[in-house]
Amino acid sequence: MTVENPLFKTVSVIGLGYIGLPTAATLATRGPEVIGVDIRQSVVDRLNEGKAHFSEPDLAMLLEAAVKTGKLHAVTEPQPADAFIIAVPTPFLDDKSADLSYVENATRALARVIKKGDIVILESTSPVGTTRKICDWIGEERPDLKLPLDGRAGDVNVAYCPERILPGRMVFELVENDRIIGGMSEACSQRAETLYKLFVRGALLRTTAATAELVKLIENAYRDVNIAFANELSVVCEKFGLNVWEAIALANRHPRVNILSPGAGVGGHCIAIDPWFLISAAPEETALMAAARHVNDSKPLHVLDRVRKQLDRFKQPKVACLGLAYKPDVDDLRESPALQITAALADEGFEVLVVEPHVDELPNGLAGRKNVIKCDLDDAIHQADVVVALVGHSSFKNVSRDVLLSRSVIDAVGLWQH
Ligand SMILES: NC(=O)c1ccc[n+]([C@@H]2O[C@H](COP(=O)([O-])OP(=O)(O)OC[C@H]3O[C@@H](n4cnc5c(N)ncnc54)[C@H](O)[C@@H]3O)[C@@H](O)[C@H]2O)c1
Repeated sequence: MTVENPLFKTVSVIGLGYIGLPTAATLATRGPEVIGVDIRQSVVDRLNEGKAHFSEPDLAMLLEAAVKTGKLHAVTEPQPADAFIIAVPTPFLDDKSADLSYVENATRALARVIKKGDIVILESTSPVGTTRKICDWIGEERPDLKLPLDGRAGDVNVAYCPERILPGRMVFELVENDRIIGGMSEACSQRAETLYKLFVRGALLRTTAATAELVKLIENAYRDVNIAFANELSVVCEKFGLNVWEAIALANRHPRVNILSPGAGVGGHCIAIDPWFLISAAPEETALMAAARHVNDSKPLHVLDRVRKQLDRFKQPKVACLGLAYKPDVDDLRESPALQITAALADEGFEVLVVEPHVDELPNGLAGRKNVIKCDLDDAIHQADVVVALVGHSSFKNVSRDVLLSRSVIDAVGLWQH
């Protein structure tokens, strides 16, 4: 499906990570010439070879086609384009407020090449008010341009259009998901909607930039609170010596109850971070969200305690840690509770057998340590005294029950509850 639009001959995607790269590759198959921009030379080089620097279903194929046809290439500095999509990281600072330095740097860099009529769209998850700051930063770099403030049209357009795609289904969801379009003015929303119509089949839902910023944070805080409930239940069930997965499955047979699954904690670049953008900005008003963050952040420590208790039963115990990623079937280790637990066990001097089929090499903190060995699943389980399931990777599901029965097993993710 190519829906070319003369407004967007060239589109620039700034930040070629988990969000920017699939977006750039998808756009490049829908008409515009796409210029990817990333400050990491290695990412730029890899893209120009037609390759992704992380694995995601269908991305490699899309990327190869986009680069081969000359529709997509990457550079390290912004170049002129008709639209700029910013997808750079928004981590938090020590006080848990958002670190907007990546967004600011990207904005100031693109402001130098922006021209009248262009649109700048922020996709990075950001605190309420960030899109307004983008206008201020562009204004400081380019006093010659009128910005779209107080709902009035400007020389350039600025909008916030958050991303809600799921790793593992990104290429599909980029096209199919409904999308929030939050312009700084009606004209900005219209222009942004025209751009997303090039590749989105889901509904495009217009609102203001500030509401769009809030909606994205609400979505992730909602997930965090619901996961916290499941994690809290897992600790309650342990106290009573009951099986949390059975209890939740039975409770979910109630027509209006739908409890999520507990795990080793909450990780990743989104749910573990984004609620803080609301909590730090409105601490008095977010008691529930803050409690959920606390519950989810405490869960890895709770799992760690359970593992230590099992390990204490052996003289020189070996522990198999199954999974390092922050969720099943991906290679993303950011903020991963599984990695946190594994690293803590390694720091305490235990012999740790790590099984992570989705990464080739152990990450910093585990690599090069004498007491940490990367193993395949069978090896690890056969050697280990204690087996800890930390991530529900599909490839872990079919371990022989007999082998597991002869080990001390802690299943933090409900892998083998059947
Ligand atoms: N990963 C997800 O599942 C997901 C989902 C929804 C929203 N988001 C949000 O999208 C944003 C990006 O997340 P991500 O997972 O793609 O991050 P990422 O770390 O995978 O990628 C960001 C890229 O931006 C590059 N970068 C940093 N500063 C730059 C600059 N000034 N100019 C050009 N490139 C720059 C980095 O080198 C990196 O390659 C974040 O705000 C995140 O919260 C992520």
